[in-house]
Amino acid sequence: MKYSEYSVVVIGSGAAGLYAALKISQQIKLPEGLLLITKAELGESNSRYAQGGIVGVIHQNPDDKVSLHVEDTLKAGAGLSEEKTTEYISAASDEVLNDLINNGVPFDRDTQGNLTFTLEAAHSMKRILHSGGDATGKGITDALSAAVRKDENIHVMENSMAVELLINSEKVCKGAIVYNELTNEHEVVYTSALILATGGVGQVYKYTTNPDGATGDGIALAYEAGATIQDMEFIQFHPTALAISPDSKNRFLISEAVRGEGAKLINKNGEEFMSRYSDKRELAPRDVVTRAIYSQMNIDHTPNVFLNASIIDQTKLLKRFPTISGRCKENGIDITQKPIPVAPAAHYTMGGIKAGVDGKTSIKGLYAIGETASTGLHGANRLASNSLLECVVCAYELADYLSFSNLEIPKKIDEGIKKMIDVYSHSLSGKEYDYNELKSRLKDIMWNNVGIIRTEEGLKTAQKEVEKLQKDFKRRRKCLNQGEYEYRNMLTVASLIIKGALERKESRGAHCRSDYKQTDSLARHSELCRVG
Ligand code: FAD
Ligand code: SIN
Repeated sequence: MKYSEYSVVVIGSGAAGLYAALKISQQIKLPEGLLLITKAELGESNSRYAQGGIVGVIHQNPDDKVSLHVEDTLKAGAGLSEEKTTEYISAASDEVLNDLINNGVPFDRDTQGNLTFTLEAAHSMKRILHSGGDATGKGITDALSAAVRKDENIHVMENSMAVELLINSEKVCKGAIVYNELTNEHEVVYTSALILATGGVGQVYKYTTNPDGATGDGIALAYEAGATIQDMEFIQFHPTALAISPDSKNRFLISEAVRGEGAKLINKNGEEFMSRYSDKRELAPRDVVTRAIYSQMNIDHTPNVFLNASIIDQTKLLKRFPTISGRCKENGIDITQKPIPVAPAAHYTMGGIKAGVDGKTSIKGLYAIGETASTGLHGANRLASNSLLECVVCAYELADYLSFSNLEIPKKIDEGIKKMIDVYSHSLSGKEYDYNELKSRLKDIMWNNVGIIRTEEGLKTAQKEVEKLQKDFKRRRKCLNQGEYEYRNMLTVASLIIKGALERKESRGAHCRSDYKQTDSLARHSELCRVG
């Protein structure tokens, strides 16, 4: 098997991974260089599709204050957001967002060249920076990918998937096994700092706004390696994904910013309904709007409701939302004239690998940043546009932390790791699984039983069915192809979500149990750690 050594290895090339690679390379002299491994091509990620924007409490917006942003985040987080973490991330946003601008991220500006800020649900003021109107993620990942490509110290490995973490007998992470789908080869990557920036788990659900790669790999790998995983039951369902037909499963997002600019939700009869569910109407926290739409769909027996954006000034609507209006047009909807069919879809993973704002996890040598991590910022329900902020602030803090760390690679590989590597050097016999069919079965189970409204009975059904799928799938470690590895990881994260949801006998934020409607007076994080 091929073997290579790098001072730092970053896995994932969304906002968190790209920015971490760049800042580490800019700040630290790395004797063995930095390797960035990513499953598809550089920049392909959830980040690339982000629309609404990124929160910035920055000096260019003097009316805003850290305390106001913290208050909004804690309110949306339903008692589970960590106040200190929130303050830290919010306070860092001025320095970090201005550094992003210096690294070439083109945030939108008015005709005088001033940055423009928009409003999203549950924010008390306009504080969201955007790029290309509604293509903020593309603006960020394109700029960072270009900077990464130019950086001679960063070695990029595309179409490669981390499939197991190498943990030595002293429980220190020393690298990963990486599988290349194009060559069908495994290789060993050895390092003194391994950073997981592998994103969320949206693909475990039938309907999701997430692209195909969001299969929870980093969380599954870290769990198998013995890391502490936190709050997996908190999955955010975005209220408004484009719902053209029941067959469209990866659903295109209709940004919350469209509601921020004044669009209204209406039912099949064209009536506005949000006032029945919240006095904040369309701009209530995301979990509230999602449940309102879900109820309305049940009342009306319809597969979707509608978002009426045609009440917004036409010129403004088309200028502000070129991506959304373009995609709707491709589907026969002129958003200046017709309401858009929308329904909720799995969108964001609030839980993940328990980590500090500097990415440190419970395993030495292993770091987690971005959506794959759970720092406690988002609590039980993430406030819009706080995710990209967390990605870049944590990447920045991690670079700072590593600049004071010893990044020398010990030359001796211990026996435990040699045994792990051995598994991958033998060829695999056995049948090839139809992973598309298996993934789709798992997604149905999760959507039907572990979705927007949960019950003990549904969760137990899901648990039994996922256990059966796990038993039928004979691959614990080496697999035959990327699809099998992803399915293996999806089973792991699905079982973690179900376990967390069963154990949390209350309703809080995005976790809603119709059999335990109360919110407990004491807010607590849930933790899962593999035994043995
Ligand atoms: P990702 O951007 O998901 O990147 C993960 C990377 O890891 C990818 O490159 C992937 O290929 C790679 N990877 C995964 N597993 C492996 C593996 N095993 N081996 C190698 N590579 C691997 N948030 C906001 O704050 N504002 C918004 O406006 C916004 N809009 C959104 C719109 C959409 C449609 C979606 C889906 C999300 C949106 N979010 C938004 C959420 C936000 O985009 C994500 O939470 C954030 O981008 C996550 O960034 P990340 O770098 O942590 O992970
Ligand atoms: C959106 O644009 O609605 C998504 C924003 C987010 O997920 O933070």
